[in-house]
Amino acid sequence: MPSNYITSILKENRIFYPPKNFSKNAHIKNMREYEKLYRRSIKNPEAFWAERASQLDWFKKWKTVLRNNKGFFKWFEHGQLNAAYNCLDRNIKKNKDKTALIWEPESGKNKTYTYEQLLKEVCKFANVLKNHGIRKSHVVEIYLPMIPELPIAMLACARIGAIHSVVFGGYSSDALKDRIQDSKAELLITADGSFRNGKIYPLKDNADKAVKECQTIKKVIVVKRSSKKIKMKKGRDYWYHKLINEKHIKDFCEPESMGSEDPLFILYTSGTTGKPKGILHTQAGYLLYVYQTFKWIFDIKDKDIYFCTADIGWITGHSYIVYGPLSIAATVIIYEGSPLYPEPDRFWRIIDKYKATIFYTAPTAIRALAKEGDSWPKKCSLSSLRLLGTVGEPINPEAWLWYYKVIGKKKCPIVDTWWQTETGGILISPLPGATPLKPGSATKPFFGIEPDILKEDGSKTKTDEGGYLVVRKPWPGMLRTVWRNPGKYKKKYFDKFGVYLTGDNAKIDKDGYFWIMGRTDDVIKVAGHRIGSAEVESSLVSHKAVAEAAVVPYPHKIKGNAIYAFIVLKKGNTKSEELKETLRKHVSQHIGPIAKPEKIQFADDLPKTRSGKIMRRILKAIAQGSSEYGNIAALADPSVVQKLQKEKIR
Ligand code: WT7
Repeated sequence: MPSNYITSILKENRIFYPPKNFSKNAHIKNMREYEKLYRRSIKNPEAFWAERASQLDWFKKWKTVLRNNKGFFKWFEHGQLNAAYNCLDRNIKKNKDKTALIWEPESGKNKTYTYEQLLKEVCKFANVLKNHGIRKSHVVEIYLPMIPELPIAMLACARIGAIHSVVFGGYSSDALKDRIQDSKAELLITADGSFRNGKIYPLKDNADKAVKECQTIKKVIVVKRSSKKIKMKKGRDYWYHKLINEKHIKDFCEPESMGSEDPLFILYTSGTTGKPKGILHTQAGYLLYVYQTFKWIFDIKDKDIYFCTADIGWITGHSYIVYGPLSIAATVIIYEGSPLYPEPDRFWRIIDKYKATIFYTAPTAIRALAKEGDSWPKKCSLSSLRLLGTVGEPINPEAWLWYYKVIGKKKCPIVDTWWQTETGGILISPLPGATPLKPGSATKPFFGIEPDILKEDGSKTKTDEGGYLVVRKPWPGMLRTVWRNPGKYKKKYFDKFGVYLTGDNAKIDKDGYFWIMGRTDDVIKVAGHRIGSAEVESSLVSHKAVAEAAVVPYPHKIKGNAIYAFIVLKKGNTKSEELKETLRKHVSQHIGPIAKPEKIQFADDLPKTRSGKIMRRILKAIAQGSSEYGNIAALADPSVVQKLQKEKIR
């Protein structure tokens, strides 16, 4: 299992209590309240969730809370509702003129939408989609940057019952192609470009390349975002702004009545095999879960201005920019662009500009911005902030303390939220008005969630002993299946222990606090992004110079982990720095810049068992600069190890 290097950089044993005035006004005010409700929720999760379900607007009430259909879980069956209706229409009654979205583009020329305006935009685009033949249960692929049209397109799909599948705008054309081919989407929504660091990223060119190999895509709708000249294919490509302004497009679109277990969206994520998995989330359970977690974990109040820096292309954006915040009528800031543009104080300036009260980001961003020095945040006031959050990877106490002192001025609790694409919403996290914080720990489970840590044989670990993090009971926000691959759902998540397997390594301390220590599988978390080592390996091997490749994580100061690739070249190729650069570019084009190997070591041979299996644990130890690679006697040629060790890239 991976070692807990991140939390060992600095031991911080202090406990940080919630400020008194924060607790006084919080939804959950102290640990007694938390524990009482938690016990009740675990004793009878169905009763707990049935009680909470009345917070959503239903067209028809459900009959059964939970049903286990041969290992596939169904929540709130026979209920009918619409997610977009819950995010928009029902908020209009009280919050018609409340700001729903504040969009900050890199240029700073912002745009805002009230709930009423957002509803109208969503309805218009829903009507456009219908006009182009999209109906309930059709799949729509969305490949857009962080612009308002992204949440609008998602909600428009939800409104008519189409299933959206958003692909992160930083992915390459190949990655987009793989996802479209698996989802079998009929329509693609993209833009002529996106902005990052003042440069334009060619989304439409990528989309064109991808669509060439995707027969299912009949139409492409293109948002005009930049001045980039692009080709529009007649009969296939349409401009978003033209369609939406056509005379016959009405301002209202009736929301489709959806069954609780009808699909809401597919989101692809990396796993242990080469191909990404389509994680399926459904209507009612997902929406209820993100609504409830958003309300209590972010302690949301009517006046809050909430800023989440995640891209909507990841689950964090789906759950805690779009569905969670909008279903509770919050005001959300979305930012398109780099945290360093034009200078490393962009986030802090955005907080001041809009008087943001809640800020949610990733540890990698905190580390990168802390590195730029305190002078940047110190030039800003940041006095509007009352709560901070982190997500995506373990946060080291050093970064936690910087965030707490320099950004939160010691008055903002930090919610370190642990969850996954598969879990739909946050499962382990402090409740900011109640939970005493230990830097580096995601603390305690949310209501209705029963996590545990198991040994290989399925027995429980002892206090402070690392093991497999599992979740014993189903919860409403959990994935329902892997798209078009139910066998994989069972195999990957339930076969090992019969309860939900997270893929993370964790421990519980004497106070019942959870410490997440990294992955137990071949998934690598690079700057909070989830990358499958097999995906990077197959990309490397697809290059003509490469015979074999193995990639492993190694600790990185800013990114948490970075990718270390061991590569055996085909005969006739010369080991050179140029070739390394070529291979980095190759992966970048194939998957996306986030998957580039930071370090590449050319090797003559890799450590293999006699049956030819590459022993990653040994490569991991070498990449991490450790000589504890365990037993090497099983290797076909043990001398390989010493050689690799000698040539290690520092
Ligand atoms: C993996 C899931 C959750 C939304 C974004 C990532 C790691 C996530 C934490 C945290 C330690 C964390 C885990 C998990 N992770 N949050 N607070 N502390 N590790 O979603 O891409 O599906 O990745 O991210 O390893 O399994 P994802």
